[in-house]
Amino acid sequence: MSLNKKEVCQIEESAAEDLEAKRLKDLHELAQEKKIRRVGVLTSGGDAPGMNGLIRSVTRASTYYGLEVMGIRRGYHGLWKGDMSLLTARDVSDTLQRGGTFLMTARSETFTTEEGLKRAAAMADVFNLDAIFCLGGDGTWRGAQTLTDAGVCTMALPATIDNDIAASDYCIGYDTAMNTAIECVDKLRDTASSHERCSVVEVMGRHNGYLAMTVGIATGAEIILIPEHPADFMDDVVSKILSARNRGKRHYIVIDAEGVGDAAEIARHIEETTGIESRASTLGYVQRGGNPSLRDRYLASMMGVYAVEALLSGRKNRAIILRGGEICDIDIHEANASKKSISESIYKKAEILAF
Ligand code: F6P
Repeated sequence: MSLNKKEVCQIEESAAEDLEAKRLKDLHELAQEKKIRRVGVLTSGGDAPGMNGLIRSVTRASTYYGLEVMGIRRGYHGLWKGDMSLLTARDVSDTLQRGGTFLMTARSETFTTEEGLKRAAAMADVFNLDAIFCLGGDGTWRGAQTLTDAGVCTMALPATIDNDIAASDYCIGYDTAMNTAIECVDKLRDTASSHERCSVVEVMGRHNGYLAMTVGIATGAEIILIPEHPADFMDDVVSKILSARNRGKRHYIVIDAEGVGDAAEIARHIEETTGIESRASTLGYVQRGGNPSLRDRYLASMMGVYAVEALLSGRKNRAIILRGGEICDIDIHEANASKKSISESIYKKAEILAF
């Protein structure tokens, strides 16, 4: 008896469903065997929109599989202090749409010392944490690695508006921050155009220009200044602005990544050298706030569940990343080994588009 195409598809679908049901049952059983009973979750470094969504998904998935969750307050500093309490599935209700992190965050000096690390690792023992989900950017991931090396199981999740984690194509918060920034730059362009001015806009990014580059392209900036691509002031700024004026442009938008230099100083320099009135705006912390975008909520939801299931499947000390559109996990040491760069080709395209 031969089957038609539709029947073959139905059999394949039901086999895939059976496999998925078995996988979930196995995860339940693993959790019930009590190999992993209690996990911690913390947010560290600069906050990012979508962090709450990550805390929520980690908490909901963990409790779904029968684990207890401890919410650690103020990142590694809170771990060091033992500042944590039980988080239930209901405690994370009404958080998905909120910016910031309700667990609060900090940049801990104490944790970076040998003594501090020892004490933080000991706290994981005191509170019986079988694993800690560490949510944040590259600094947070390095912290997760040091904890791992000190014997604590960690699972790192990417959340930073800087999008500077090399191993992951995307970090939670980046989309929301970009959208906030382009809304501001669009407004600045209206006034710059009316006055035929140059508008220098400083966006966040101390060590990398991902945000600046993307926002610059999306707002049609004439010039994008990023730390990865040192610019010559006369060739890359002044002469470009003057030639843009000669081609009939009525405004000149310069997007400057925080790490490159102070916007006010750059604007003053431009005005002195070109004679074109220039104004500076620093977007600052407004970029870190606000309700997360759909992309950040969705990915935060998916990544958190993925992280918990990876842990229950026996994978430890992993970094959860997005690669080629797929969520996957790699060893935390491997994840921290590379540095993110911006390709010359993107830089060149931005130049072409500004013509
Ligand atoms: O979160 C990353 C980041 O926003 C950087 O772009 C910026 O330089 C830095 O945080 C500012 O951090 P802080 O909150 O410590 O002032």
